[in-house]
This record gives sequence, structure tokens and C-alpha cells, in this order.
Amino acid sequence: MVENKQPVIELQEAVVTFERNKSEITAVDHVSLTIDRGEIYGIIGYSGAGKSTLIRLINHLQVPSAGKVIVNQQDLADLDKQQFQQARKKIGMIFQHFNLMNSRTILNNVEFPLLGEKLSKTERREKALALLKLVELEELADAFPDQLSGGQKQRVAIARALANNPDILVSDEATSALDPKTTLSILKLLQRLNQQLGLTIVLITHEIQVIQTICHRVGVMEAGKIIEQGKVSEVFRHPKERLTEEFIDTSINVQDALSRIQQKRLDNLFLLKFIGETTNQAVVTEMAQKYALSANILFANVDQFDDLTVGVMILALNGPEVTAGVNYLRQQGVRVEEIAKRVTQS
Ligand SMILES: Nc1ncnc2c1ncn2[C@@H]1O[C@H](COP(=O)(O)OP(=O)(O)O)[C@@H](O)[C@H]1O
Ligand SMILES: [Mg+2]
Repeated sequence: MVENKQPVIELQEAVVTFERNKSEITAVDHVSLTIDRGEIYGIIGYSGAGKSTLIRLINHLQVPSAGKVIVNQQDLADLDKQQFQQARKKIGMIFQHFNLMNSRTILNNVEFPLLGEKLSKTERREKALALLKLVELEELADAFPDQLSGGQKQRVAIARALANNPDILVSDEATSALDPKTTLSILKLLQRLNQQLGLTIVLITHEIQVIQTICHRVGVMEAGKIIEQGKVSEVFRHPKERLTEEFIDTSINVQDALSRIQQKRLDNLFLLKFIGETTNQAVVTEMAQKYALSANILFANVDQFDDLTVGVMILALNGPEVTAGVNYLRQQGVRVEEIAKRVTQS
């Protein structure tokens, strides 16, 4: 983690508006954000939230309609054309669909960003081979993109993004087209590059697992705004926004379990959340005994967010003192939601 905080990316009240059919869309709505050197910062949100536009602001593909974008202490608006080109090279980018050139070999793909640099052919080749080694693909240097798996293609794209020794790597849904196992291997690679090279990584995703696996901090984005942000475990310990809760629920498969269980049309269904360093689910047994309730556990799961454990349980309670039992659970620090209410509300 970052010891001496040094801001490398600062957005100050950044706004991006687009015009469409004579009406104005605000894709990024007064976002202020500071990302420190060496940090892995994740932005999570559903499709259309404005994530890609935000990340395009960071790597200078998008000019803000208002507000400031400061990268490496340089205000984007103050740069002349040459400085701007230079600044862009210091930010690598990877995408969901890799964007490799199919008619060129893997080596040539990685060499491509170096073509404009003052390097001899041999130096360029050596640099590209070293990058392929870094992503553990040197043996595929002479292959073509079509011969590679999705995970291997993304490794090539990462090597290419690092060709100009960037300080920052931005990732726009880089693992969204990959299966879970391959996703994990790419995330582990990004984590290693963060540690080995001190690379600052900003990644956007709609998958909470990505945030959980490698991010230090997270911002939750909705309708152009960062509605909540902080250390991953802190945000998940005290989610302030419904949307944040939804992402947490996705990770522990609560939504699937809920829709399955709701079909059974049971009464007195409750969703319990245990949040802490350890989760003490024995409290449910205590409650059942104390209030002579039958507590039928229909679903239970535990997941880890950084140093935070989140446990969930779906319970069907029966007996005369259900309300007292629920109050007892709440007194013990368990978050309890009645499921029927939850459904009619949403
Ligand atoms: N070039 C553009 N022109 C017009 N509207 C755009 C453009 N780019 C994005 N938008 C709109 O801005 C909003 C945010 O888009 P985007 O940043 O791609 O969101 P996300 O990456 O979270 O799915 C959407 O409503 C999208 O349609
Ligand atoms: Mg997008």
C-alpha cells in the first residue's frame, strides 16, 4: 500500500457533457477525485454510469467541459501540443476487446508504440521481448493474435501498454470478456506490475470481484457522479448508498438466493448481514433459544473484502416473538432486513 501519499491524478469538479439529439447528456458530473502514486483505484458502476468517459478524461482522450484534470502535477489545459503528446505516453491503456492488430505478430504489436521513438531496430526488439517476458509470453513472440486465448491477448495488450514506461495504467473493463479463472490471472498480473514497477492503476469495472481482488480504494459511480468512495474494506463495512449494497450483495450471491427463495412465498423471511473482522453467526442460535423461535437457515455465505469479512444469511423465523428476536439480533450488531418489505420497496 501507499506509504507517502503523492497525488498522481487529480480531478477537480470535472464535467463532461455530450450533445445528443439537441439535448445535453452529462456523462461526468462534477467529479473530484485524487489518486495517489502506487495505488490501485477501482471505479465500479453499471453500464452508462460514465466510467469510460471518466477514464478517458484521465488519459487525455477526452477534454473536460468544465473543471480540471491534473496528471503528474500538470494541468492538462496548460500543455502545448508536444507536452500533451508526451503526457499521453505516460499513461497506458487496456480495453475489454484488447485492440490488437491481427496482421502483425505479437512482437510487432508490442513494438508498435515504440516505432516513433529514437531506438534502433535491435533496441526496439529487445525492449518488446523484455515486455513480453514481463507478462510471461516471450515464447509466443512470433505468433499472431488469432492464435492466442483471450487471457494471452490481454497480456499482449498489457505489454504494449507498458512500452513507453508509463507511470499510470488505466483499464477499461479489461477482464470483462474473460472467464473467472483467466480474470483472476490477469488481475494477479496487474497486482504484480503495481508492486514490481510501482505502477499506478485505475481500473473500471462492473464486477465487484475485480474490486475485491486487487483494489486499494474504490469509487462507486452512478449517473456521472462518484456517489461513494474510500478504502475497499471501509466502503464495504459502512456502505452509505443502496447501489453499493447491491454490489456487495452480488458478490455474495444474495440476489440469486433471494429470487430463488422468494418463489417459495414464505412468511417472516429476513436477510441478515454480519460485518466485521470475524463474523459470529452463533448469535442466531442464541436468539432462537432465548425467544423460543424456530430459525430455518435457507441460505448462508461468507466473503472477504480486504481485511473485512461479510457474512449473509437468509432466515425464515417462526414463533410468537419474531419481532423481539429480530430486535435482539440488531442489538448484537447484526444488520437485519425483512425480505418481503425489501421486495415491495424496489
Ligand atoms: N461520444 C459520446 N457522445 C454522446 N454520448 C456519449 C458519448 N460517450 C458516452 N456518451 C454517453 O454518456 C453516458 C456515459 O457513458 P460511458 O462513459 O460510456 O458509461 P459507462 O462506461 O459507465 O458504461 C452514456 O449515457 C453514454 O451514452
Ligand atoms: Mg464503459
